[in-house]
Amino acid sequence: MRSHFSSRLGFIMAAAGSAIGLGNIWKFPFEVGESGGAAFIIVYLFFCFVLCFPILVSEIAIGRRTQRNAYGAFKVLGFPRWAVIGLLQVVVSLFILSFYNVVAGWSFGYFIEMLIGNFAIGEQFPQYVQNIPRISVYSILFMVATGFIVAQGVSAGIEKYTKILMPVLIAIMLGLAGYALTLPGAGEGLSFYLVPDVSKINLDVIYNALGHAFFSLSLGLGGLMTYGSYLSKKDSILSSAVAVTVMDVLIAFMAGFMLFPFVFSQGLDAEGGPGLVFMALPAVFASLGTVWGTIIGSLFFLLLSFAALTSTVSILEVSVAYLKDEHQFSRFKAVILSATVIFLLGLPSMLGNGSSEFFTSFITYGGTTADFMTLISDLSSNTFLPLAGLLISLFVAYVWRPDQLIQELSSDGHYTIPNWVAIYLKIALRYVCPLILSLIFLFTVLEKFFGIQIIG
Ligand code: PFF
Repeated sequence: MRSHFSSRLGFIMAAAGSAIGLGNIWKFPFEVGESGGAAFIIVYLFFCFVLCFPILVSEIAIGRRTQRNAYGAFKVLGFPRWAVIGLLQVVVSLFILSFYNVVAGWSFGYFIEMLIGNFAIGEQFPQYVQNIPRISVYSILFMVATGFIVAQGVSAGIEKYTKILMPVLIAIMLGLAGYALTLPGAGEGLSFYLVPDVSKINLDVIYNALGHAFFSLSLGLGGLMTYGSYLSKKDSILSSAVAVTVMDVLIAFMAGFMLFPFVFSQGLDAEGGPGLVFMALPAVFASLGTVWGTIIGSLFFLLLSFAALTSTVSILEVSVAYLKDEHQFSRFKAVILSATVIFLLGLPSMLGNGSSEFFTSFITYGGTTADFMTLISDLSSNTFLPLAGLLISLFVAYVWRPDQLIQELSSDGHYTIPNWVAIYLKIALRYVCPLILSLIFLFTVLEKFFGIQIIG
């Protein structure tokens, strides 16, 4: 018998826990910072609600209809060729988690540094990430915590822990944002964050916003399909999906209310890129004095670690469910095998932050040299996830058929799906998603590989 979430709330917490992660608190603010503020947010919101929402609903529905992992689901529906998408999702989930777990490990390490009042860690970041033995220990600890939760199963593990972690996370976030808004410079931070500069919108911004929307909503990786397979038939997919999307967007938005006042209160550069959180913030915490700095600093990195943990759990579950369903692994063995492979795959990402020249200047494309982690993150989140989204929208629209989707959303007639929702989903999946996703791909390939610039 397949295990299930014990309640709809359990599913929402687990799925929102998957969505809310490093993407919201670490990546979203620096993407906004680099793309000139609110212009990015507008494009991002459009992608989340218009393009990603129908795909999110589809993933959950396919999982619930088939009661299978991301690969097996397509086979159970009777379309074994399409199972290739599922298999790719399982493989890509290993790669995504391999680098995600490294950054999660940094966050956990920073939590400890803040607890002991080492605010100089921000300046020491380049040395910190090159200290492979230390970083490996943090990454292993993080992977063990993730494996510990996943090994206990769906309701006694994933549901139980996300139901504790998510409210704590939201409370810390509200507290920190409230505090940040009282700092001098908060107003300047907010106006940078909220006043759109439309001139900054170019293809790169659009492409990053799209990749980020997929990444942040945990789409295209089979995570929500797998969680959907544990959702009870009597629960409403549609209202759960709305709750997850709104929570994800709100938390990312709130992260900006916390980050930018922090950054501007010290006159730091808001366009600081990935280092914004790890390099700039410790100095901000130091400026609050030892007591407040320690409290606020450790709370912040605890928040980041909790957010990451509820996401790593969902990514690990993709391969665990696959090994369990398709290869009859026990849950425990599946966790050990997946976690080991993921840790090993993460080593080049760890080494690519300066310790190894080879992995640091790993490849040059699109005019810039990228380290291993940047390459994997770019290929997986910015390229593979939207591609998987495109294939899923084509699958639902033209192979499985939207009527089947609507039937599943209604829990076989138990809920009424408003007409306008059904029409919106059909149009989005048939025309809007395939068209926009393919155009963005085409433009990007033309620009990145052939140097032909179409937008911006
Ligand atoms: N949504 C997570 C974040 O924003 O950090 C990352 C993620 C989790 C991506 C689960 C994909 C996934 F299946």
